[in-house]
Amino acid sequence: MRVLVTGGAGFIGSALVRRLLADDHDVVILDDLSTGFEENLRGVDVPIIHGSVTDPESVSRAASGCRAIVHLAAVGSVPQSIIDPIGIFDINVRGSLEVFEYARREGAHVIFSSSASVFGTNPENPKTSLSWTRPMSPYGSSKLAAESYLLSYAACFGFPALAFRFFNVYGPRQRPDHPYAAAIPRFMGQALLDLPVTIYGDGLQDRDFVSVGLVSSVIAEAVRGTVSSDVPVNMSTGKQTAIIDVAQDIIRLSNSTSRLEMRPAREADIRFSQGSPDDLMTLFPNAVDVSLADGLVETMDWMRTLAEAGDLSPATLR
Ligand SMILES: NC(=O)c1ccc[n+]([C@@H]2O[C@H](COP(=O)([O-])OP(=O)(O)OC[C@H]3O[C@@H](n4cnc5c(N)ncnc54)[C@H](O)[C@@H]3O)[C@@H](O)[C@H]2O)c1
Repeated sequence: MRVLVTGGAGFIGSALVRRLLADDHDVVILDDLSTGFEENLRGVDVPIIHGSVTDPESVSRAASGCRAIVHLAAVGSVPQSIIDPIGIFDINVRGSLEVFEYARREGAHVIFSSSASVFGTNPENPKTSLSWTRPMSPYGSSKLAAESYLLSYAACFGFPALAFRFFNVYGPRQRPDHPYAAAIPRFMGQALLDLPVTIYGDGLQDRDFVSVGLVSSVIAEAVRGTVSSDVPVNMSTGKQTAIIDVAQDIIRLSNSTSRLEMRPAREADIRFSQGSPDDLMTLFPNAVDVSLADGLVETMDWMRTLAEAGDLSPATLR
């Protein structure tokens, strides 16, 4: 089947593209390379349309002939969304609507990457598809708006759709060295260079970490079976890990001399984040993730290749 992956040059996209190719799909990517890299696709032979999801012509050209679209392209940063809420709306909401408009016209199956950030201030744990949503950032609001548009489009216009709420995805090819890098790659980059491992807040905030391997294999299965759902589905493990524990594990794993450095909490940082995997397990009974310990070892192996290639710079990791 021909499948479009928007954002296919990014961290999750590049893992997913490899998985879809292994399933013998004919894959095409639409990416503006704003946070993605062609390097992520080294050794992968797929056409990349360089363009934005906000441009209907680029979307139509890329999606032409595709029976499924995995829509990952977005600005994925909470801090960036606080700096530029309208810019984030344009890409994450209006850009998503361009993709959904195509699906509406052509009846394509759409799988969308929403986020646990839609739950925002809701203290309930674990979160389910019935838990109330109240985003704490324009990023979370953009994801809530886009998933809600997708599910309403699917109901009104009759195409199959599936919105996943990704919790904290980690794994190889998640870069450590940009201002909004996620905790795991950043801790790894800092530890490998023996820099202070920087924690925002008291480190007791919990996260539900899910490996990019699980995310890719679940999405590949959803593509294969044209799986749809009229409620958003958590992409989560149901396990909680405190950020400070992950940081200490990473320091141990890398045999680093790094110490922890506590910094003031970030704006709109969610305190506890744990997603019930019940809906995921109902739709995908084989969706069992590797342990976080094993996933960290695999991710660290990749991060070491960056360090050994001299591709980690202290200036971008402090
Ligand atoms: N990584 C996580 O933990 C996580 C958690 C929740 C949700 N998500 C969502 O999953 C998706 C993928 O995230 P990721 O971690 O791989 O991020 P990423 O930044 O590595 O990937 C996003 C990709 O989209 C591309 N892109 C951005 N704006 C675009 C535009 N206007 N047109 C075309 N391409 C564009 C980027 O160049 C990049 O290749 C995003 O929608 C993100 O919001 C990720």
